[in-house]
Amino acid sequence: MTTTAITNIGCLVTNDPALGDGPLGQIRDAALVIEGTTVAWAGPSAAAPAADRGLDAGGRAAVPGFVDSHSHLLFAGDRTEEFNARMSGRPYSAGGIRTTVAATRQAGDRELTATLTRHLAEMLRQGTTTVETKSGYGLTVEDEARALRIAARHTAEVTYLGAHIVAPEYAGDPDGYVARVTGPMLDACAPHARWIDVFCEQGAFDGDQARAVLTAGRARGLVPRVHANQLTYGPGVRLAVELEAASADHCTHLTDADVDALAQGRTVATLLPGCEFSTRARYPDARRLLDAGAVVALSTDCNPGSSFTSSMPFCMAVAVREMGMTPDEALWSATAGGAAALRRTDIGRLSPGARADLVLLDAPSPVHLVYRPGVPLVTDVWRSGERLVR
Ligand code: NIG
Ligand code: FE
Repeated sequence: MTTTAITNIGCLVTNDPALGDGPLGQIRDAALVIEGTTVAWAGPSAAAPAADRGLDAGGRAAVPGFVDSHSHLLFAGDRTEEFNARMSGRPYSAGGIRTTVAATRQAGDRELTATLTRHLAEMLRQGTTTVETKSGYGLTVEDEARALRIAARHTAEVTYLGAHIVAPEYAGDPDGYVARVTGPMLDACAPHARWIDVFCEQGAFDGDQARAVLTAGRARGLVPRVHANQLTYGPGVRLAVELEAASADHCTHLTDADVDALAQGRTVATLLPGCEFSTRARYPDARRLLDAGAVVALSTDCNPGSSFTSSMPFCMAVAVREMGMTPDEALWSATAGGAAALRRTDIGRLSPGARADLVLLDAPSPVHLVYRPGVPLVTDVWRSGERLVR
């Protein structure tokens, strides 16, 4: 198999403490060898083994590809007007989801696919090499299954979110809708998905309904993840931990008991700063979670309503400025943290055996990702050993 050595990397973040300094396993003046789709070697340039091909990184920093473990990319239309109204003082509510549901049901498969692939390409250009994405804007058996079928052609990380809000046809009969979500809709959707998610929130699904959705999905082999404690305090986080969900996402309104549960359980706390930014809400307290010992991931939550950003560096910058994270913690959470939230060990790190998902930055240090907010620093992106952006 052909090997490629990337040499003269000013600072390489491996996320493997055994390979370099600190929790990020950083190596100065580093090299990395790719063999086929995986990392074969990482270490100091001076010790690099011979390879078939070479590439001089010119002193630039290299980091693992970002792992965006929470997005909603199966949608049509946009919500510019809602955003404008919000920036003039109207609060965010889950009700806005209905606007996107109406537009998504109207859209053809080609339009949905084009919107998905456009955003995936936008993410790749910004260094994101793994993307989880969800249904949740169809809310009928056919529309949810169609969204997941399309998603599964483009990513392995597909989540069934039939329980995003109660479908308009079931207004006044939420339990009837839950029966649909856990019955025929689950039958149609389970073959296309790896994960099951529910929006556990006032105005969406309560704790009992969320439990019914997640346990039904689990019985069909889907692994739970939960939209939890976004707008209000509630049972979502504790339910996620109790059911050993891979991730509890948002985690904005947390009691001490919620924080303890996350610190002691195996559920990752996935924080979505783009959402609080775009809804002018208070930010989740990453520092409190990290100090308690919870595993924290960062993700964009890219969707047309609450967080229409596809930029992981933007989310990292906000997390550092507003949520008490250090630049190193934010980078770990956007890479290894996302991998943990997806229960993946092959991504989010650049040690031998990992998938060769790698980003070169037009900067000498990865700290520039948050030190220079809004600046497009990503110059080159490899995914599975293939250089897709240059
Ligand atoms: O993660 N919270 C629920 N779902 C999305 C918002 C979707 C929308 O507003 O369209 C979220 O923020
Ligand atoms: Fe979300």
